[in-house]
Amino acid sequence: MTIVPVALGARSYDVVIEAGLLTRAAELLAPISRGRPMPIVADANVAPHLDTLRASMAAAGITGEAIIIPAGEASKSWAMLERLTDRLLELGVERGDHVIALGGGVIGDLVGFATAILKRGCGFVQIPTTLLAQVDSSVGGKTGINARAGKNLIGAFHQPKMVLIDPAVLDTLPLRQLKAGYAEVVKYGLIDDAAFFGWCEENGAALLTGDAAAREYAIAHSVSAKARIVGEDEFETTGRRALLNLGHTFGHALEAEAGFSDKLLHGEAVAAGCALAFGYSAAHGLCSAEDALRVAAHWQEVGLPDGLAAAGINASAEQLVEHMRHDKKASGGQIPFLLARGIGQTYLDKQVSLEDVRSFLALQPH
Ligand code: GLY
Repeated sequence: MTIVPVALGARSYDVVIEAGLLTRAAELLAPISRGRPMPIVADANVAPHLDTLRASMAAAGITGEAIIIPAGEASKSWAMLERLTDRLLELGVERGDHVIALGGGVIGDLVGFATAILKRGCGFVQIPTTLLAQVDSSVGGKTGINARAGKNLIGAFHQPKMVLIDPAVLDTLPLRQLKAGYAEVVKYGLIDDAAFFGWCEENGAALLTGDAAAREYAIAHSVSAKARIVGEDEFETTGRRALLNLGHTFGHALEAEAGFSDKLLHGEAVAAGCALAFGYSAAHGLCSAEDALRVAAHWQEVGLPDGLAAAGINASAEQLVEHMRHDKKASGGQIPFLLARGIGQTYLDKQVSLEDVRSFLALQPH
């Protein structure tokens, strides 16, 4: 078992990582349930995990009604938020109670936000079931829903009380989803940990084909990196937490072009976005061409998109830049970009000209 503390003063909590943890989750939930029910919010895709969790809770005498919501990004909506908060109120959830989010990023973001506003804030526990949620979205307290104007535009910082990660649940995750989550694992190496990127080059393929030890190591390492960065900048005010958005500005434009559909998963867009951020950095002499090629080569090796063509995006450079103009990180008309001086040397650049970005994108193979 690995325990990664997230140190945030009064909002501190532990991330507990262990294969098979779901079968004995109730041991960890009992102290915070205080004899009260713990409703579980899940989607139909995680039904087997829900059964395992409920069996563990029942054996420990913890009750908790399951609330099933439709799988998919469309559930991060006002309508679903209303349905969920109404149901939680019907169930009599009190401020000191905890709701369990069992699922991927959609469930975690929705339940996190619902509990942030229910009775001005009650508790929640994250039990993430996708690699992406395990290494990124379940840790750090970003919660929210989508607005007509864009993704994640309505939300709150609301830290969970505990995060329980069972890497064994990944055995049943579709390979495409696993790979998409793996892009966020590699991202931690690219941000500030060149040695970890080297580890990914050595072990990434094995991790994706089922090497349990490699999975557990990668999850623990990623969660530690995330906990460290969030601990330094919980509310994304100093620029430190913004490093976690590496690949996201380029990636967001690709996702927007794909209509935020299954045509391009978020993690796939992040992979292509990281390759483009390194390509842009190399084209401007900020990092070596070798480093940019290493990033692209790793995506090719594991079957993640290394650019526009591989991501299946053939939009014009102008169209992509237009999507960037609407990025929620825009400030005073300027978009902050995460660029790199090398692998493990990402930095925030607030002076990037969109005209330069457009010229760079126009030269990329479509
Ligand atoms: N996923 C980026 C962050 O949590 O800040």
